[in-house]
Amino acid sequence: MPSGVPVPPVDIEAEGLTKQFGDTPIFSGVSFRLERGGAVALVGANGVGKSTLLRCIMGVIPLTEGRVALLGQDTGGLSAMAQRRLRARVGFVAQKHNLVPRLSVLSNVIHGLLGQRGGVRHWSQAMAPAASRQAALEALEAVGLAHLAQRRADRLSGGQSQRVAIARAIVAQPEVLFADEPCASLDPAAGEDVMDLFMRLARERTVTVVFTSHNIDHALRYGDRVLGLAGGALRLDATAGSLAPADLRGLYD
Ligand SMILES: Nc1ncnc2c1ncn2[C@@H]1O[C@H](COP(=O)(O)OP(=O)(O)OP(=O)(O)O)[C@@H](O)[C@H]1O
Ligand SMILES: [Mg+2]
Repeated sequence: MPSGVPVPPVDIEAEGLTKQFGDTPIFSGVSFRLERGGAVALVGANGVGKSTLLRCIMGVIPLTEGRVALLGQDTGGLSAMAQRRLRARVGFVAQKHNLVPRLSVLSNVIHGLLGQRGGVRHWSQAMAPAASRQAALEALEAVGLAHLAQRRADRLSGGQSQRVAIARAIVAQPEVLFADEPCASLDPAAGEDVMDLFMRLARERTVTVVFTSHNIDHALRYGDRVLGLAGGALRLDATAGSLAPADLRGLYD
C-alpha cells in the first residue's frame, strides 16, 4: 500500500464463528472483516441463521466457537461495564420496530440514549434532560418526522414507525449499525424509502453497517459487499458490483 493512503480501521472482525442451539448446528466457520464505513448485506433463505449471526456479532447471544472483534475490542470476556460501553457505540434496527406503543414518538427516540446516558430520566420525554430531547428532535428531523414528535407511537403507519426506529438507532451516534430486515414489514415503495433513508444516514455519518435482507435488489444496491449463508456456512462473500441477481438466487435453491 503506498504511503500516505489512510487505511480505514476494521470495525467488525469475525473469525471462525460457529453457533449451535443445543445439539442443532446453525452455522460454522463464518469469517469476514468489515472496514469503517462499509456496508455488508447478509442474505440467505429463511431459517438459515442470519438473525442468529447478527445477534452473535452484537454479543446478544453467545457463540459456540469463534471470535468477534467489534470496534477493535474482542467481545469475549468483556466485563459487564466494558460490554455496556461497547453496546452504547452500536445501533440496531429490527424488522418490527418494537416501539413502546403508548409513549410519544419523542420518548421512543430518547430511549435510544439509554445505553449511553442511562438512568430513569431517559424513560420518557418529560423527565429527559434538555440535551437529550434536543438530540432526539434532531434525529427525528433527520428521518423527516420532527412534526410527529408528540404523536403516540401506536398511531403511526408502518413506514413512519420504521423511520422512528431508525431515529432511535442513530440518536446516540453509533459507529456501527446492525439492521435485521429493516423494511421487511413494509410495502415495496415504503420499504424502498426506508432503506434509502437508512443507508443515506449511515453513509453521511460514515457508520459501518451490516443488514440482512430477503430483497436481492436491496442487497446488491445498498451493500458494498454481499455475504450469503447457505447450508450452515458462508457460501458467498463478494463485492456487490461483481454479482448479478442470479448469483444470489443460487443461495435459495
Ligand atoms: N433461541 C433459539 N433457540 C433454538 N433455536 C433457535 C433460536 N433462535 C433461532 N433458532 C433456530 O435457528 C435457526 C436460524 O434462525 P434465524 O432466526 O437466525 O434464521 P434467519 O436466517 O434469520 O431466518 P429468517 O430469514 O426467517 O429471518 C432456525 O432454525 C431457528 O429455528
Ligand atoms: Mg431473521
